[in-house]
Amino acid sequence: MRHLFSSLIVLISMSVIFLGSASDDEKKDMGNSTYKYVGIKNCKMCHNRPNAGKQFDIWSKGPHAKAYSTLATDEAREVARKLGLVKDPQQEDQCLRCHVTGFGVTQTQKASTYTMEEGVSCEACHGPGSVYRNMKVMKDIYEKKVDGKEYGLIEQNQAVCTTCHNENSPTYRELNYELAVKLLAHPVAPVTQ
Ligand code: HEC
Ligand code: HEC
Ligand code: HEC
Ligand code: HEC
Repeated sequence: MRHLFSSLIVLISMSVIFLGSASDDEKKDMGNSTYKYVGIKNCKMCHNRPNAGKQFDIWSKGPHAKAYSTLATDEAREVARKLGLVKDPQQEDQCLRCHVTGFGVTQTQKASTYTMEEGVSCEACHGPGSVYRNMKVMKDIYEKKVDGKEYGLIEQNQAVCTTCHNENSPTYRELNYELAVKLLAHPVAPVTQ
């Protein structure tokens, strides 16, 4: 029961952050708190608008959405077997480290809405979203009024990709960054179709 109550309190304070606009004091507080991985529903709720790019739908159809389920395939089991690993790849740290979001972070850095089944989700590339997902913050970052880094948003460059796309991947293929980013593009622009 106590646990339920504290979860409720966390939820309520999260929705206050979510609905309110960030004053300077709040901003300082938010900057001090640890950013948490909130899971993809908390991005989808705003990032599936047809007039603003439908990022969620684009991601769902791409390779990263299935990164976790891939580990359940015969191909994955074969990859693991060749490395002498005996566990189910979906439970093997040596595979999960690149096939899920936020691998290796502490439990306190995961909100109750986080689940690893979502594979390599928005927050794997953009950073844990508990603070920047606030509407006012998001708009201010987008309009370059504030620096996203102060709210946990990661700047995009090739280094973000090579944390996973590197020779430690048993199936490594070199990544052409410019081409790959074009392939996965999910711009804030009306979807025409
Ligand atoms: C409350 C609504 C809301 C939520 C929740 C939200 N966003 Fe946003 N986000 C926006 C808006 C509005 C923009 C400005 C562009 C637009 O209109 O889509 C934006 C912009 C962005 C940008 C561009 C920032 C830049 O540097 O220009 C990124 C990246 C982003 N969001 C990622 C995410 C991720 C990842 C999540 C989930 C963790 C998330 N957002 C959750 C509303 C939201
Ligand atoms: C260093 C990060 C990393 C690790 C560790 C890793 N993977 Fe992957 N995995 C990737 C990336 C990135 C891809 C996309 C293709 C590529 O470049 O390897 C991928 C693709 C795959 C694929 C799809 C096949 C393909 O050619 O695209 C399978 C199956 C797979 N991984 C299984 C595993 C298994 C099983 C393990 C654990 C034994 C594992 N991976 C560990 C990063 C990793
Ligand atoms: C958290 C780890 C991780 C990060 C970060 C990551 N990827 Fe991946 N990526 C994967 C895995 C795992 C797969 C394989 C998914 C599958 O086949 O199930 C993959 C697959 C892909 C594929 C399709 C397979 C291929 O090799 O052609 C492309 C393209 C790709 N990623 C591009 C990128 C780009 C560009 C970035 C950076 C902007 C990036 N990825 C960041 C883990 C990651
Ligand atoms: C594999 C890494 C990766 C994943 C996963 C990913 N993004 Fe991105 N995102 C990027 C990169 C790289 C850019 C910058 C693209 C560019 O420079 O053209 C970007 C740009 C954006 C932008 C800004 C687009 C603009 O027009 O300025 C938004 C909004 C965004 N992402 C939201 C999301 C959301 C929401 C998700 C999940 C549904 C998501 N991203 C998943 C790598 C990723």
